[in-house]
Amino acid sequence: MSGTSEGCVRVAAVGDVHLDQDVVGRYRPALEHLGEKADLLLLAGDLTRHGTPEEAACVAREFGGLPVPVVAILGNHDYHSDQQNAVSGVLQEAGLTVLECTSTVLTCNGVRVGIAGTKGFGGGFAGACASEFGEPEMKAFTRHGRELAARFGTALAALDCDVRIALTHYSPVPETLLGEPLEIYPFLGSYHLAQAIDATPGTALAVHGHAHAGSERGTTPGGVPVRNVAHPVIKQAYNVYQLSVSELLTPA
Ligand SMILES: [Fe+2]
Ligand SMILES: [Fe+2]
Repeated sequence: MSGTSEGCVRVAAVGDVHLDQDVVGRYRPALEHLGEKADLLLLAGDLTRHGTPEEAACVAREFGGLPVPVVAILGNHDYHSDQQNAVSGVLQEAGLTVLECTSTVLTCNGVRVGIAGTKGFGGGFAGACASEFGEPEMKAFTRHGRELAARFGTALAALDCDVRIALTHYSPVPETLLGEPLEIYPFLGSYHLAQAIDATPGTALAVHGHAHAGSERGTTPGGVPVRNVAHPVIKQAYNVYQLSVSELLTPA
């Protein structure tokens, strides 16, 4: 099946590559031929091991100068050294687009592909989630996830494009966490992200990482396909998802 036809977009995606000096070169051989297989590449966060600018330089070497546009978000590991702005800066200098509650539009095969992204945060899922009650720390934990999801949802809704893609690090649904211990689900994702995605009808794909022991496939309550592209889950340099715009634009 050719993916280069008019109206089709091939989306490559991977997350949790956790680069440091000893990992540089692991992904590059597969990436050199990316232009033959995909129209863009999404990086779903946890690009570094400890969030240092030095590790970000490794990411820049591995994912810079590719034949397709690269759109990234940061993950919790990329915040670990409190240098997330510097990490983001190194990636942007290498030509990557880095989103955080923001969006970008790329034109691929005549299709305007809109991507909204956020790291997101935990909080859990229906029936087993944190609430804004009690100690200030608990309220702050819960509020952070809700507020990030709301800002991300606003960015997604504001996109003027033919196809919308949601890019997060934390998971919007529990299905793609299958394989992880149930006890840590509230630290792996939040239903607020799914609500933000479902609030804008017509999102074609939601991509996330973070859950290394999770499962690849899920769906939001509103029917949006969700894919966990954490490298330990997909076990290759990237997965490619083909979106057909003619199918997506069928009237409601
Ligand atoms: Fe990770
Ligand atoms: Fe993570």
